[in-house]
Amino acid sequence: METWDAIRARRNVRQYTDQPIPRDHLERILEAGRRAPSSSNWQPWDFVVVTDREQLVELAKAWPQGGRHIAQSAATITLVGREQEEERQRSWLYYDFGQATANMMITATDLGIGSGHSAVVDQEQAQRVLGFPDGYFAVVMIGLGYPADRPLRPILNPDRRPFDEVVHWDRW
Ligand SMILES: Cc1cc2nc3c(=O)[nH]c(=O)nc-3n(C[C@H](O)[C@H](O)[C@H](O)COP(=O)(O)O)c2cc1C
Repeated sequence: METWDAIRARRNVRQYTDQPIPRDHLERILEAGRRAPSSSNWQPWDFVVVTDREQLVELAKAWPQGGRHIAQSAATITLVGREQEEERQRSWLYYDFGQATANMMITATDLGIGSGHSAVVDQEQAQRVLGFPDGYFAVVMIGLGYPADRPLRPILNPDRRPFDEVVHWDRW
């Protein structure tokens, strides 16, 4: 897929087929995250990949309301960061994790793989399942799998605010 097509085709996919994701495609998605830009290139992330069904079911319990798709995913990548004391560092961390997430999701789309965010509300549950050290926290989970609803194709009319409302040329 062309980059422009992948950007337009990406959407949150929350229903997946049983088809597993080949290891080299998972690695490409992870590599796209690793290559993301970050503040002063501090690369504040670790990625924990889960493909085991029982572990995915347990991981989904970290956000029972919005993370149900994690239990059904073929794989889920959890982006883990260090807790930050300073507000400024925290805001950079979230910005950088957003960029890594977007890189991974666009790359997944390019491979025909659906992706869906889930917040992490129960950090203790995430830590129990994933085993990351104290002082770290799970920022977001990205469920991955081949879409069970419809294939990924560029969306002609996305559910977005109008272009002219969002964009300000020269001055607001
Ligand atoms: C920071 C963030 C957290 C999100 N958390 C969840 C979540 O917990 N569960 C979920 O189903 N979707 C979650 N989403 C997905 C958004 O609801 C989705 O991206 C938005 O509605 C736009 O839809 P689209 O991604 O299909 O274009 C999250 C998205 C972001 C950026």
